[in-house]
Amino acid sequence: MKLEEAVKALSRALRCEYAGVIQYLQNAQLIQGSERNLHAKFFKDLSKECWKHAAKVGKWLVVLNSVPGVEPAPVKQSMKLTEMFRHGLELEREAYGAYLEAHSAAREEAALRFFIEEMIHDERLHIDQFEKLLEMKKLAVAAKEARAKA
Ligand SMILES: [Fe+2]
Repeated sequence: MKLEEAVKALSRALRCEYAGVIQYLQNAQLIQGSERNLHAKFFKDLSKECWKHAAKVGKWLVVLNSVPGVEPAPVKQSMKLTEMFRHGLELEREAYGAYLEAHSAAREEAALRFFIEEMIHDERLHIDQFEKLLEMKKLAVAAKEARAKA
């Protein structure tokens, strides 16, 4: 019963990964201006990473006797870099949530849990990356200059 829930959550994660493949690739294709050189590669690499994740999730769905779906989650489009980042953050948060759900449902399958933990790790870092790009991190240094104590 619990594994059925894991399959459902992983299927949701797979849709996010497929959406990521398309969304980030389109972002890479559309980006213009002085940011293009840096961020086109950034988005292209993210698209490839989503493809790799999709391949792994699909493999696991078959292990769990389920046919991987072929439908992506909704793909968000924009011509503005900041909006592309925001869309990316939303997508990564959605995938992260799906993996967390799958993880709590996969209690008795150690190997499955291990795989999902790897995904949770990757998605968490992607979320952090987008949060930094969107300047959402609230960090402060203690002083303008730091000196080692003699
Ligand atoms: Fe992913």
